[in-house]
Amino acid sequence: MSTLAVPAAQAAELRFPPGFWWGAATAAYQIEGAVAADGRTPSIWDTFAATPGRTDRGDTGERAADHYHRYPEDIGLMTRIGLAAYRFSIAWPRVRAAGGGINPAGLDFYERLVDALLAAGIRPVATLYHWDLPQELEDTGGWTNRDTAGRFADYAAAVAGRLGDRVSMWNTLNEPWCSAFLGYGSGGHAPGRRGHRQALTAAHHLLLAHGRAVQALRAAAPGSQVSIALNAGAVRPVSDAPADLDAARRIDGLLNRLFLDPIFRGGYPADIQADTATLTDWSYVHDGDLAVIAAPVDALGVNYYQPDLVGAAPAGRVDAGTPYPTGEDVAFHPTPGPTTGMGWSIDPTGLRDLLLRFRRDYGDLPVYVTENGASFPDEVGPDGRVADPDRVAYLRAHLAAAHEAIAAGVDLRGYFVWSLLDNFEWAYGYSKRFGIVHVDYDTQVRTLKDSAHWYRDVIAAGGLPHR
Ligand code: FCB
Repeated sequence: MSTLAVPAAQAAELRFPPGFWWGAATAAYQIEGAVAADGRTPSIWDTFAATPGRTDRGDTGERAADHYHRYPEDIGLMTRIGLAAYRFSIAWPRVRAAGGGINPAGLDFYERLVDALLAAGIRPVATLYHWDLPQELEDTGGWTNRDTAGRFADYAAAVAGRLGDRVSMWNTLNEPWCSAFLGYGSGGHAPGRRGHRQALTAAHHLLLAHGRAVQALRAAAPGSQVSIALNAGAVRPVSDAPADLDAARRIDGLLNRLFLDPIFRGGYPADIQADTATLTDWSYVHDGDLAVIAAPVDALGVNYYQPDLVGAAPAGRVDAGTPYPTGEDVAFHPTPGPTTGMGWSIDPTGLRDLLLRFRRDYGDLPVYVTENGASFPDEVGPDGRVADPDRVAYLRAHLAAAHEAIAAGVDLRGYFVWSLLDNFEWAYGYSKRFGIVHVDYDTQVRTLKDSAHWYRDVIAAGGLPHR
């Protein structure tokens, strides 16, 4: 390692706090494969991916990175990189038996995984819901059915009963905005239903599920920390014109405050309730729900990729496919500057601003960057190396932005690269590579990309090394 000769105190240019959780993240459906193994039942993503036209080239998670069978090898990769923590998700359809009840074989898999992580000295950080709702529950209404929140709490209790003594931190949900607004609003994600009223209903039931799961986790795993991973965003108006400012207020309300306010302030934002009054009377919010949703959490997880630049759409232009309820007249503008392979803008100031905003508006609680990363069209070169300088630059710039937030007083405790492995990128199938480890999907051969070697050096130095 190049920094070995440097005295320890100078080893890192931007040093992160001692005990910082240097991590990487994945999600069950994106990497596991083995969709019919050991009693797993179909999820909404199996159904969605099998429906023609829903995913790029009809790709499915049937095989993915075959992590279900290759997890020991993958933990070996984590050890080589030096990860302190690994964020993975538990597949509800592995743990829930067909027809209801618990499938012990599903819990057995995650127990093997958690024990192997602990044996390797890596903290397990488990997400209970990363979008793979059991299809049987979708068949009774999915997240539009209030009962699903109760079923989620049962599932959380069962998982915590088995693993609660060994998992360091729980994330109840991953990005409920996506589950609600892409799954039930625009239909771009599973289960592919379209309708803004039902998307708002789903958002509430997801939040209720979060609150009930917090209760279940506290009861079954009193020693572990509980959090939620939100895809909160830095929403910026394209100009100071009142209509553009108002568009930014509305998108910020639906992307951020709709989720943050109930969790951290015990109430929905009044402006968003007023804006959406044409769609719903919000009667799906029952007495007592908000107290459940506002049960204290130990930390907040933030998934950050890019900021949003928004304004009023030109008169007469309607975005009929928008995931945002009442957002048909809002335009999303490209941010000037470089973009990733997803076409997402590269702007680390958004991460810094977001972290500072949480602290300002929601208080000084511990925060984790639970996802951050970039997709580029990586290839294994003739020398066997995967050169991904754009990803290294992206990660470096975002870690520097995170460091700025720490210097400004944000209690940032950890950072998880999205993703450990190349994987099934939802509707984009296998066409987008986010991993710091390359996966050859034909042979399942893994190759550490340059970014993985670079991240190993960052972790060893405790911060960003001199260039
Ligand atoms: C996030 C998801 C994650 C992955 C990244 C690129 O929204 O949580 O599963 O798809 O985006």
